[in-house]
Amino acid sequence: MSSEVFAPSEEVVAKTSVTAEQYDRMYQRSVSDPDGFWGEHALRIDWIKPFTKVKNTSFEWPDISIKWFEDGQLNVAANCIDRHLAERGDTVAIIFEPDDPKADARHITYRELHEEVCRFANVLKQLGVQKGERVTIYMPMIPEAAYAMLACARIGAVHSVVFGGFSPDALAGRVNDCDSRVIITADEGCRGGKKVPLKVNVDKALADSPGVEKVLVVRNTGGDIAMEDGRDVWLHEAAAGVEAVCEPEPMNAEDPLFILYTSGSTGKPKGVLHTSGGYLVYASLTHELTFDYKQGEVFWCTADVGWVTGHSYIVYGPLANGATTVMFEGVPNYPDAGRFWDVVDKHKVNIFYTAPTAIRALMGAGNQFVERADLSSLRLLGSVGEPINPEAWMWYYRQVGRERCIVVDTWWQTETGGFMITPLPGAIPTKPGSATKPFFGVQPVVLEPESGKVIEETEASGVLAIADSWPGQMRTVYGDHQRFKETYFQQYKGYYFTGDGCRRDEDGYYWITGRVDDVLNVSGHRLGTAEVESALVAHPKVSEAAVVGFPHDVKGQGIYCYVTLMAGDAGSDDLAVELRNWVRKEIGPIASPDHIQFAPGLPKTRSGKIMRRILRKVAENDYGALGDTSTLADPGVVDDLITNRKNR
Ligand code: WTA
Repeated sequence: MSSEVFAPSEEVVAKTSVTAEQYDRMYQRSVSDPDGFWGEHALRIDWIKPFTKVKNTSFEWPDISIKWFEDGQLNVAANCIDRHLAERGDTVAIIFEPDDPKADARHITYRELHEEVCRFANVLKQLGVQKGERVTIYMPMIPEAAYAMLACARIGAVHSVVFGGFSPDALAGRVNDCDSRVIITADEGCRGGKKVPLKVNVDKALADSPGVEKVLVVRNTGGDIAMEDGRDVWLHEAAAGVEAVCEPEPMNAEDPLFILYTSGSTGKPKGVLHTSGGYLVYASLTHELTFDYKQGEVFWCTADVGWVTGHSYIVYGPLANGATTVMFEGVPNYPDAGRFWDVVDKHKVNIFYTAPTAIRALMGAGNQFVERADLSSLRLLGSVGEPINPEAWMWYYRQVGRERCIVVDTWWQTETGGFMITPLPGAIPTKPGSATKPFFGVQPVVLEPESGKVIEETEASGVLAIADSWPGQMRTVYGDHQRFKETYFQQYKGYYFTGDGCRRDEDGYYWITGRVDDVLNVSGHRLGTAEVESALVAHPKVSEAAVVGFPHDVKGQGIYCYVTLMAGDAGSDDLAVELRNWVRKEIGPIASPDHIQFAPGLPKTRSGKIMRRILRKVAENDYGALGDTSTLADPGVVDDLITNRKNR
């Protein structure tokens, strides 16, 4: 643990919306009187029909139920667009920076955003999209991705954005799970100078998704693609024939806004469902306070809209706050490792928010790239997605922030909708590597992993759970409320279990140590070991597979696969390459295994359970700490694993 503490400067404190003293008072109120606190803060957004009830939630097993502002009505898209028009119609809502640095950036004002989203929404209506219907969005990082999300919200359709790096198989699985009849995509995407064949992938996915009737296609690269008559529709053609005005649909606060698939420790990815009112209140308040956002500032979150970070902090949070949000199509190292900093200078970015994996990769590329940039527009830096090691934090602070900018390390999850543990820049001194203190309304507890007992002492180490609901919390797993209950509320009764381990230090600061379940965090992307395993065993030569994470300098965690082959098949370098490509094809490049080790057998208990603890240690090259192997059905397999590991 690093002991260095960075307190906000007097200048920051003078300008902040929340000082240290206000934080303490507001936090106390937010947990002792959630109805009063959230009832007031919910008025930051426009309600079509005011709510009379604020919080109606239960974590009491087995009656898990979460409702906020349940009798209120609003429209999320109107909150993100229409209500800004009178005062800020000509303010830039979205700055689009394309992959190719020589191509023109685009500046879309709130007024232009209004027209684009209205036309888009009318096209969806023309395709017969109904309120409550699920629409899948499979897009590159272009403004049309945001238009598509907001168009769904405007007419009350529920969007499910699938990251454009996922394979056709992964896309088909998600389309089928939520019964999408319509997919929105683009001809191609562009990343790092390479084309991403999105429409081709959709065509492949449709072989396994018979329920899809319409594919709405955005022309992006102009690349040559096949359009199927009667099924595929060009957005620009359809949009030309519809009106530029579309009235927002009044939605109940608890009507679903979106589904986002995320990996868990078992089975297929689950559809995390977020609703309208609580989510928007939470996304916009966290965005404003954690970044201390002030009108007119340029905010850049480098995530992809395919992840929750893109939902809450590229689209919904910033736009609800009338901010200027940057959408970047490209990657950090194209055309070179100075791209982020060039874009910061080009668009005079004030607040920059990225992931530790990118920081580590750019740190490794050498300081010349960051040194050549001016970066004087920057005021605040953020980090998200995985634990940030103090070295990367310090590099970010010194090289990018020039020891001038505050660094906020924000801990949260797809399930939480917005920040849960995070510094507030003017209130909470930071420590490199710690996400610091809870946001308003969030009551973290540290539990003993085995007994589930709450550790009352300030200094604590265990698993992280949350004692009560907050407005941005997911409401259910789409189509499977039982799975929602079992995943998050069964193991530690009365609490929401995060799946993360943590320590709390003597100052009450939280240090997230990473997942304690079988979820990997590879370059800030969440991936279930079970998903990679099921992709591997789908290969005809594989009989069994076990996948674990191991520490990786840049990615945070790498993917280590143990593979047992069918009798008669022999492991070879060629087969390892073939299996790696197979996993990429089945899931997508983010799931690409770093190591494949062929193993004659896997360490199992007598009841057949694979002992992952041992596999993790072997992958880490840590043979001294294998622990008790006496319960193994065949202790000999461990020696084989170690010998093969050492020979790799
Ligand atoms: C990890 C991304 C440490 C954590 C917003 C969590 C973090 C998982 C941090 C959720 C952070 C996210 N420090 N770990 N600041 N932020 N994580 O759903 O393990 O893609 O459970 O949401 O990422 O990943 P997800």
